[in-house]
Amino acid sequence: MQKRIEVGILGATGMVGQHFVKFLQGHPWFDLKWVGASDRSTKRRYAEATSWRLGGVMPEAVAGLTVEECKPGNVPRLLFSAMDASVATDIERAFANAGHAVVSNSRNHRMELDVPLLVPEVNPDHLKLMLVQRSGRGWKGGIATNPNCSTVVLTMALAPLKPFGITRVLVTTMQAISGAGYPGVASMDINANIIPFISNEEEKMESESQKILGDFAGDHIRYHPMKVSAQCNRVPVVDGHTETISVELSSKPSIDDVLAAFNGFRSVPQERQLPSAPTRPVIYMTDKDRPQPRRDVEREHGMAVFVGRLRPCPVFDFKFLALGHNTVRGAAGAAVLNAELMHSEGLLGS
Ligand SMILES: NC(=O)c1ccc[n+]([C@@H]2O[C@H](COP(=O)([O-])OP(=O)(O)OC[C@H]3O[C@@H](n4cnc5c(N)ncnc54)[C@H](OP(=O)(O)O)[C@@H]3O)[C@@H](O)[C@H]2O)c1
Repeated sequence: MQKRIEVGILGATGMVGQHFVKFLQGHPWFDLKWVGASDRSTKRRYAEATSWRLGGVMPEAVAGLTVEECKPGNVPRLLFSAMDASVATDIERAFANAGHAVVSNSRNHRMELDVPLLVPEVNPDHLKLMLVQRSGRGWKGGIATNPNCSTVVLTMALAPLKPFGITRVLVTTMQAISGAGYPGVASMDINANIIPFISNEEEKMESESQKILGDFAGDHIRYHPMKVSAQCNRVPVVDGHTETISVELSSKPSIDDVLAAFNGFRSVPQERQLPSAPTRPVIYMTDKDRPQPRRDVEREHGMAVFVGRLRPCPVFDFKFLALGHNTVRGAAGAAVLNAELMHSEGLLGS
């Protein structure tokens, strides 16, 4: 059996860090050996430094690791980053400069011109930016990012439609409370209620989706010219972001063409059978009242996006519904799949 690659987590004690710990358990390629966090946690055992907030028990192999300072040194070459955004910029850069591949979940570097903002099924070729980044910055390592959780769902649902020429998109989100981290939104605010505001979320969806659906143009990404208008809401759902989407398509396909595009969509992670890739990245559900977060979000290990209710739109061309797991496909699972793609491209070294 091939030797597994040792990996670490920056910000391992936080909510997203815990999702990484859980997602990496039993991974066939990656072996979690190192955890880092702030000086509040360093030099303590992971089990003592961390209030485990996820279902199931803290994995034993990680519980006994000592939490380390987030400084380059004796640290695995591949690092997943789940650090607080207020500190991620400098720390991630320091590791990239020191030769580490930093696969980050934080927003800090996503929109930088030479940093890939990846959804492996949608824009695997954007990984070529890593080489641009290395030569431009003189780094031995590099930084790759995954999008905001609601943007992952939107771009995976739109990717099958890209060949039809996407011109305009309206998206309204119903986002789970787990997306706000811990303790997140106060229970008095979210119970039996909807909060029609998530700070910076609409801006992120509108700009990140143009970058992700854009084309690699030699040394930069040519942004997709589609216009996206997003309205984001927090709803009393634990896991799973649901989005209603209306789309205008320049080639005016039939509804059967669109359905066939959803059903036939496969990409590089499926061709290469990457360990965390869902067999079908976009799953069209035919029941008229699906997908639903409570019933569907855990299917396919949380790594697929579920689509349904495709119908004509009287304003644009078509409207439909999409659902994805915000903490799996929108966070830890997304970053691990990014690292698997990087490994399959030979970008993690030997
Ligand atoms: N929550 C989500 O669902 C979600 C979704 C998508 C993206 N994100 C992004 O993911 C990141 C983490 O979010 P979160 O909700 O997991 O936050 P969190 O629970 O507050 O965790 C933050 C982590 O950063 C560590 N940290 C803080 N200051 C540090 C420093 N100076 N040096 C090293 N580590 C430091 C913390 O360590 P200590 O425990 O020692 O303080 C902790 O491990 C953020 O950038 C966030 O925007 C979150």
